[in-house]
This record gives sequence, C-alpha cells and structure tokens, in this order.
Amino acid sequence: MNILHISASPRGFDSDSYRLSGHVLAHLRTRHPQARVAERPLWSTPLTQVDEAYAVALAGGPAGADVATGPGTLARSDELIEELQKADLLVIGTPVHNLTVPASLKAWIDHVVRVHRTVRPTPQGKVGMLPDRPVYVAVTSGGWRTGPRARNPDFFEPYLRAVLGMVGLRELVFFSMEGMALGEERIAQARHDAHAEVDRHFDVREVDD
Ligand SMILES: Cc1cc2nc3c(=O)[nH]c(=O)nc-3n(C[C@H](O)[C@H](O)[C@H](O)COP(=O)(O)O)c2cc1C
Repeated sequence: MNILHISASPRGFDSDSYRLSGHVLAHLRTRHPQARVAERPLWSTPLTQVDEAYAVALAGGPAGADVATGPGTLARSDELIEELQKADLLVIGTPVHNLTVPASLKAWIDHVVRVHRTVRPTPQGKVGMLPDRPVYVAVTSGGWRTGPRARNPDFFEPYLRAVLGMVGLRELVFFSMEGMALGEERIAQARHDAHAEVDRHFDVREVDD
C-alpha cells in the first residue's frame, strides 16, 4: 500500500490543511499499518512551472523536445506521474487561494495531467488513463466555501473534481474547514467539526470493512 501525501499550504506544518490531512493519514495508517507514505510538500520544495520544452512536446513539437532536463521539464513531469501511478491512495491538504487551488498545487496538476501519459484525447472528449483510487482532500478556506453563507463562487471543488476526473481519479472525498478568517471561536469549531467528520468517515468505513 502506497500513499501519496501532497500538501500545498505556504504555512507548511503549521497550516490547518496540513494538520487535517495529517489526521486523514493517521486513520489510513491505522487501517494499513504497512503503508508507505510519500511526502510531496509543495510549500518547502515548490515545483517549477512547466516550461517551453514541455509545452512544445505536448503540442506535438519536434522529436527530442522531451529529452530536455531541468525542473520544469518533461523529466520532472515523468517523475511526478510515476509517483502518482505508484500511489494506491492520495491525500491532499490545501487551502483555497483566490477561489480555487493555490498556484503550487496548480503547478503539480500541470505536470501530472499530461496528454498521452495520463489523459487520452478522443473525439468524445478527454479520457483518463489512470486507474481510479480514493483521493482525500482536506481543504481550508478563510470564508464560507459552500452552503447558503458562501458569498463567492467556489471554483475549488468543481475544478479539482473536473481536472482529476480527466485523468481517471473520480473517487474524491472532501473534508472542509470553512470560515477560518472569522475569529478564534469559528476556527476552534471548524477544527473540531472537520476532525470529527474525518473520524466518522473512517470509523464507519472500518466497521463496514
Ligand atoms: C493568497 C491567498 C488567497 C486566498 N484566497 C481565499 C479565497 O479565495 N477564499 C477563501 O475563503 N479564503 C482565501 N484565503 C484564505 C485561506 O484559504 C485561509 O486562510 C485558510 O484557512 C488557510 O489555511 P491553511 O492554514 O491550511 O494555510 C486566501 C489566502 C491566501 C494567502
């Protein structure tokens, strides 16, 4: 059992999304004691944006464009895709930034959502090439992201569902902490509720298994 843990908050270990995704991981480790966890901390080792060689190669550019090396190139993308392919489960801890995923997570997405490697274009639309597997998303937001109190559109969850669905990952489970900019009382409540929601999810599933 291999687990890939991606964390995207610039606040790193101190972030609520990291702590919540850590709580998910703790449950998974209980259930799969032999599991190996690959850490992908996008905050401490940010990914370079995809570069010209990558874009040229994906657009069917000159042969050999894919042998360029460097952090933003196809070689990096290969490495990240292999890491993703190896994972039986994904855990993503991330805040919402400007209504959607942070740029650090978007850079990871640009490396792993790759035509002919993880997604096949067809006349009917894009078809995912990865076998489905559970993806647990621990997401934090300063405001309300869902429900009647939300004041802004949410491009985070629909985007992540669409873009990961494009490579074949459809089994997404979201655990949210919302309203984290609304004061200490709200923060405490959101932390309590989200951790309890994770416990409920895994406790119920453990009874079912
Ligand atoms: C650059 C930036 C953009 C943000 N944009 C949003 C946003 O669009 N909506 C929102 O609800 N919160 C937004 N926030 C607030 C964070 O989502 C919030 O502080 C979150 O609790 C941080 O979680 P963390 O502890 O996991 O980093 C933004 C924060 C930053 C730094």
